[in-house]
Amino acid sequence: MKDAEAIRQAAEIIRQGGIVAFPTETVYGLGADAYNPLAVARIFEVKRRPSFDPLIVHIADPVRLRKLVKEIPSGVRRLTEKFWPGPLTVVLLKEENIPDMVTAGLPTVAVRMPDHPMALSLIKDSKCPIAAPSANLFGYLSPTTAEHVREQLGDQVDLILNGGPCSVGVESTIVSFFKNKPRLLRPGGVTLEEIESIVGKVEINSIKDNPSAPGMFPRHYAPRTPIVLDWDEKHLDSYEDKKVGFLAFQEPGRFLKFEHIEVLSKKGDFREAAANLFSAIHRLDALDLDLILAEAVPEAGLGRAIMDRLRRATSKGE
Ligand code: TXA
Ligand code: MG
Repeated sequence: MKDAEAIRQAAEIIRQGGIVAFPTETVYGLGADAYNPLAVARIFEVKRRPSFDPLIVHIADPVRLRKLVKEIPSGVRRLTEKFWPGPLTVVLLKEENIPDMVTAGLPTVAVRMPDHPMALSLIKDSKCPIAAPSANLFGYLSPTTAEHVREQLGDQVDLILNGGPCSVGVESTIVSFFKNKPRLLRPGGVTLEEIESIVGKVEINSIKDNPSAPGMFPRHYAPRTPIVLDWDEKHLDSYEDKKVGFLAFQEPGRFLKFEHIEVLSKKGDFREAAANLFSAIHRLDALDLDLILAEAVPEAGLGRAIMDRLRRATSKGE
């Protein structure tokens, strides 16, 4: 099927109240008409996602933001002018007519304009904003290819649009503006440094903060195989009788006989590393290993989002 025809069909499905998986530049999303609570409810069902975890509403034109939120602080206008379309989500006080199903009953709504031609065409053709979480089972790794979506959700979705691998590879950066103060709820594809260069100092939610920033669950983005991040080179013999995989940032570790090694970016480029992150973990997770050792990356720029995802992937979930 040609892309244009697939998008036309997908838009028809959304208009009829169905659910469609679609590519964005960050990860694949699982979308429904944001104004159709029954369609949105099916997303929660298919993902086995708790209903207190709200969804991001996707738009194809920045002016649509006005219809979704009560007011747009000037900082938000400057950020969206700079980073939309792109991996930035803003959380603002919502307009009454947005269903509670989308926002989990919160007074706020999260909105973003993705930077992917298929996503933008789909939203335009559907003639509605599209509510979409990442197209994975709740708590599991986010999908960065159509195959990842098929493996996890398969025939439970009405259609999967295939737009190839996602170019950014980690989810959008989420910034809230409670009382006009920018606050980073989730590090992502736009770096903190880039955001602060536009709006000044941004407060940061730590990983353990506040489950009321729902979805910021410590255990998230997790593969089936345990990932270990705080390993020590000196104690690697304790893993000797195990099947161990290694997730390297730049250089493969020389210390152990690993079953398999994934290198995120040979030249140590964050952008390349982020784009490879979930695919690399998916590949390691398919190998029936006892555990995966992951190498920490420097916490600057996109390294912050990469480390956030690695920490959540290793968390025990308390
Ligand atoms: O890059 C992305 O953001 C991808 C693509 C598909 O757009 N979407 C994505 O959605 O990552 P999801 O549902 O996996 O993560 C959205 C996060 C959740 O942690 C949710 O709790 C948070 O956004 N969120 C949504 N609405 C919110 C709100 N009103 N206040 C605070 N957090 C909110
Ligand atoms: Mg997700």
